[in-house]
Amino acid sequence: MGSIEAARAAVDASVLSGFGVLLFLVTAMPLALAEAAGSARLWRALRRLAAASLALSWPASLLWLWLKAGAMAGEPSLGAVWLVLRTTWFGQLIAAGVAASVLALVLAWAGRGRLAAGVAGLGVAVLALHGHGLAMEGGFSLLVAVSVLHVLAAGAWLGGLVPLLMVVRRAPAEVAARVARAFSPLGKWCVGVMALTAGWQFWVMVGGLPGLVGTSYGWMVAAKAWLFVLLTVLAVLNRYRLALALRGARARTARLAFTASLAGQIAAGLAVVAVAATLSGLTPAMHEQPDWPFPLRPSLVALDEPETRDEVVPALAELGFGLALVGIGVWRRRTVAVAAGVVVVGMAVPHLDLLFVPATPTSYFVAPETEAAMVARGETLFAAHCAACHGPARDSGAVMDLAAAHLLDHADGELFWWVAHGIDRPRGGQVMPGFAAVLDDADIWAVIAFVRARNPAWAGERGGSGHRH
Ligand code: HEC
Repeated sequence: MGSIEAARAAVDASVLSGFGVLLFLVTAMPLALAEAAGSARLWRALRRLAAASLALSWPASLLWLWLKAGAMAGEPSLGAVWLVLRTTWFGQLIAAGVAASVLALVLAWAGRGRLAAGVAGLGVAVLALHGHGLAMEGGFSLLVAVSVLHVLAAGAWLGGLVPLLMVVRRAPAEVAARVARAFSPLGKWCVGVMALTAGWQFWVMVGGLPGLVGTSYGWMVAAKAWLFVLLTVLAVLNRYRLALALRGARARTARLAFTASLAGQIAAGLAVVAVAATLSGLTPAMHEQPDWPFPLRPSLVALDEPETRDEVVPALAELGFGLALVGIGVWRRRTVAVAAGVVVVGMAVPHLDLLFVPATPTSYFVAPETEAAMVARGETLFAAHCAACHGPARDSGAVMDLAAAHLLDHADGELFWWVAHGIDRPRGGQVMPGFAAVLDDADIWAVIAFVRARNPAWAGERGGSGHRH
């Protein structure tokens, strides 16, 4: 995480906290505890927390602006800051965010709690506009709307944790239990919204498993997801164990455990904010070629051939049945069902290797869009580097022709790997040399485009008797 992302994380954390605390003051608190009920100090402390959070976002925003203007202009200076503020979208968002938090603070001071929370929410929405959404779509879009929802839910939930901690520590056990319960519906909504919106963002920014395991962006997304799971597990523990225990005989221990669990949640929440800020500085996985780290990859080619299909389909059914047995066994606490399920799954698994094929690190590379000029360049390169062995197809003396119909089944990324790094003999040594030293990525894609474009014609000339492999 660079200093720009660190400054951004500070802005995010303070703005989310300001919003979350103000919301807590108008939702969970009044439901559980009237302001007059001898709790004036607690209310005051929470208001100070809201004010401090909002006020902290000002210097943090200035720092972010200063660093970013410096990065844009080459060197930070007041002139650069002024230019960025006046002429860039980023500068205007910074100004809007600071304005929103100033206004929210004034409104809170004037006793207009709901309005203050609403305006602070606008400040949170501004944070989402800083993200990749606008850059990717060049304007407002569904992705932007989803990002706004996502950060609003994050603020409402994570921002409510510190006030909840203060209540649990300071209020009488009975009151703390009530506040925790009053916070719960909002928390549940937020968790649901965050999970759904995160799923959508995953789809758009990461795309799938290769992007998740094969790019640094994907790794960060995975880290965020794990932290979210941790936060949710602790929330369930808080609500359904510790909050109830506060009323029981061992209230002191329960209060300590509750405090510790909330502190853990707050730490995880801060980590989420830090990871999210780091993500904002990375290229989304969708725009990066993912490195596949495993020797195999999932593939459905087995479903094309009758023999393999007849093996895979029953095995899948068996797997589903076995897993269902295990599930039911665990649910109803029947060891026999669990054991039977495990045996059935164990019988299915050996057949499922057919659903995996050998992979290369570049298996999921995506080829650039094919253009006529690219194919033409590929033809020239092919004549220079490949034709010696792969010859024109009708010349049957060629070592290995590229006319086989199955060639088109290979993923682009796999052809890329073979051309770049060569093909090994099963027992060691190379049958085909790699060309990474002579051809750059664009050249390799051009050759592949040419081979793909020409393959059907070659296959036709040869009478379509593609075999090999
Ligand atoms: C020194 C000879 C040689 C040269 C030069 C060569 N290849 Fe190959 N290539 C082979 C051999 C031999 C195989 C078959 C390997 C095997 O048995 O799987 C092969 C296999 C391939 C395959 C896999 C075909 C399949 O259906 O599995 C592709 C694709 C390929 N070559 C592309 C190229 C391209 C593109 C070039 C030029 C950049 C090139 N080759 C240059 C010898 C060569």
